[in-house]
Amino acid sequence: MSAPLPVCLEAVTKHYRQGRGIEGVDLGVREGEVFAFLGPNGAGKTTTIRILLDLIRPDSGSVRLFGLELRGHSVELRRRIGYLPGDLALYEDLSAKEMLTHFAHLRGGPPWGAIAALTEAFELEVDKPIKALSKGNRQKVGLVQAMMGDPALLILDEPTSGLDPVVQGQVHRLIRSASAEGRTVFLSSHILSEVSQVADRVGIIQDGRMIDVRRVRELRGEAIHYVDVRLVGGHPFNLTGVPGVSSLPSENGLVRLAVKGDLNPLIGALARDQVEELAVREPDLEDVFFDLISGGSAATERDSRADS
Ligand SMILES: Nc1ncnc2c1ncn2[C@@H]1O[C@H](COP(=O)(O)OP(=O)(O)OP(=O)(O)O)[C@@H](O)[C@H]1O
Ligand SMILES: [Mg+2]
Repeated sequence: MSAPLPVCLEAVTKHYRQGRGIEGVDLGVREGEVFAFLGPNGAGKTTTIRILLDLIRPDSGSVRLFGLELRGHSVELRRRIGYLPGDLALYEDLSAKEMLTHFAHLRGGPPWGAIAALTEAFELEVDKPIKALSKGNRQKVGLVQAMMGDPALLILDEPTSGLDPVVQGQVHRLIRSASAEGRTVFLSSHILSEVSQVADRVGIIQDGRMIDVRRVRELRGEAIHYVDVRLVGGHPFNLTGVPGVSSLPSENGLVRLAVKGDLNPLIGALARDQVEELAVREPDLEDVFFDLISGGSAATERDSRADS
């Protein structure tokens, strides 16, 4: 029998007194994967995460972590989870080192040496008081706190919000290395282009409902690459028989192409000519994403099932 999923939600619903939180959410996160929970503001990401941490109780549905019900296993489960809340509260007068030592104590946790490896990876200045830290540096304190003690499951609510691209890259690398060591990561975000760099799978939540779960690789397969080609001598380029390629208005012998999915047929076709200039732009996953959430078949199917 295979090991139970680190995260498993079945038909989980939570309504707040003022209105909807989440509605019938099904979700399974596999061991060792990085799963990104993606959705616009107010979609229900934090609500779901707070349910996983047993900070709020769902109205109905089943929630299991590592095969265990939350109720009756909260102490045991919390020891296996590193959690970065979206609204982490820190003691302003403590230094980052004192703050992190405090978090480690609460956890019965790791020695400073192990924590220091993380603060160094993030290039976090640990002697400054929290109140003197920038938003990004405060976020780093939160991330170190979540990752300390090498928890089997990392639950990170918008881990890269407020971080510059360099620090985002550091966070992504640490997340990838946690996953390479077999740990499981569940993170939320509202920026697809960003999670596509770090996640294996993306679950899309909108208006409290999961509308789709995709492998990032699969999203890339549906994405559009924009390719600019100029052939030697400005010859026109023959696109006949190249699948997924459409040409956009070209200028001065520069041919602009939109390629859906696999680039290889185009590369094969180009090899028949002398190429003078070639530029490929990163696929715009945002386009695929908006395609999916504005009337993708998965959304319609799920909605009609819920209404009946
Ligand atoms: N404590 C609360 N009381 C009442 N309604 C709430 C509460 N927390 C969240 N909600 C509502 O539940 C819905 C989902 O909110 P949630 O915070 O889970 O979204 P989110 O995806 O985390 O959004 P964001 O990207 O802004 O963090 C929203 O409509 C929100 O207004
Ligand atoms: Mg949130």
